[in-house]
Amino acid sequence: MKIVISGGTGQVGTILARAFEADGHDVVVLSRRPKNAPWRTAIWDAETIGDWTAELEGADAVINLAGRSVNCRYNQENRRLIKESRIRSTQLVGEAIKRAIHPPRVWLQMSTATIYAHRFDAANDEVNGTLGGTEFGVPETWRFSIDVATSWERAVDEADVPHTRKVKMRSAMVMSPDDGGIFDTLLRLVRYGLGGSSGNGRQYVSWIHYKDFLRAVYWLIEHDDLAGAVNLAAPNPLPNADFMRALREAWNVGLGLPATRWMLEIGAIILRTETELILKSRRVVPRKLLESGFTFHFPDWPEATRDLCCRYREG
Ligand SMILES: NC(=O)c1ccc[n+]([C@@H]2O[C@H](COP(=O)([O-])OP(=O)(O)OC[C@H]3O[C@@H](n4cnc5c(N)ncnc54)[C@H](OP(=O)(O)O)[C@@H]3O)[C@@H](O)[C@H]2O)c1
Repeated sequence: MKIVISGGTGQVGTILARAFEADGHDVVVLSRRPKNAPWRTAIWDAETIGDWTAELEGADAVINLAGRSVNCRYNQENRRLIKESRIRSTQLVGEAIKRAIHPPRVWLQMSTATIYAHRFDAANDEVNGTLGGTEFGVPETWRFSIDVATSWERAVDEADVPHTRKVKMRSAMVMSPDDGGIFDTLLRLVRYGLGGSSGNGRQYVSWIHYKDFLRAVYWLIEHDDLAGAVNLAAPNPLPNADFMRALREAWNVGLGLPATRWMLEIGAIILRTETELILKSRRVVPRKLLESGFTFHFPDWPEATRDLCCRYREG
């Protein structure tokens, strides 16, 4: 297959490009800067139509991951960049597909499991889930994230690409043993004795093992009946306290200092990030994937984290 990945130089893009390349596919990553990689990189500016659009001709799939990282403080300038970079790059991919003579069969557009409401009572699936934004008493920064996610998805919905199937991937945190990823960060906390529960530890963590993420992406490319919003999350999200305990056990660390909400708020200011990533309850389940027959190799966190720790140790 020919697969084009815009914004494919980051954590998720590298996981996908590496695997597609190893499986013998023709991979093209669209990036704003020239990069050395085992696959081809084409330059785009993520803002305007250019020569890069030729890469989409006859492609089997285009996967758009582009967007300014959300791992920063949500000040005014960062908010603008986070939101505009996602909307603009998505509109641009839509425009390029529309202009193509032989448009890609499928457009997988990254979205986020963060789009759902902060809740504990029931899980959010694609049919009965509640989108966030109107929950009582949640920080304003959480509402900003919902606004980003819904605007991002609206840009896909509004794209006029009648010959290309559109899928919005509402992905949970993709756990991989790579340097600098989310799992790496969590494991560092555990290794330094700081891997206790966060806040009151009741908030749900939705996650997906990178091998299952990759398999789900293949599944979405191959299954013509799947379109619209699809949750990419392991079927068994769990409370933060249990999540961190399983990670400590997998790494063989007995104790981890818990972090109260105010400690996390101070830590987030020092680390130039936001506490939403750890304090929001993300209880998201993959109804559409399961109903279409997809099976997870890692449905439960204890097994997933043991596997990830082994891979991490092997370097
Ligand atoms: N990682 C996860 O677990 C996860 C879960 C759910 C959703 N997501 C979303 O999935 C996407 C990919 O995640 P990731 O972790 O791979 O992100 P990442 O490592 O931050 O990579 C995102 C890519 O977007 C491009 N980019 C950065 N700033 C940009 C801007 N201002 N305009 C246009 N492109 C820009 C960069 O490519 P170049 O610099 O090469 O152009 C970068 O490689 C992100 O939108 C993220 O929010 C991630």
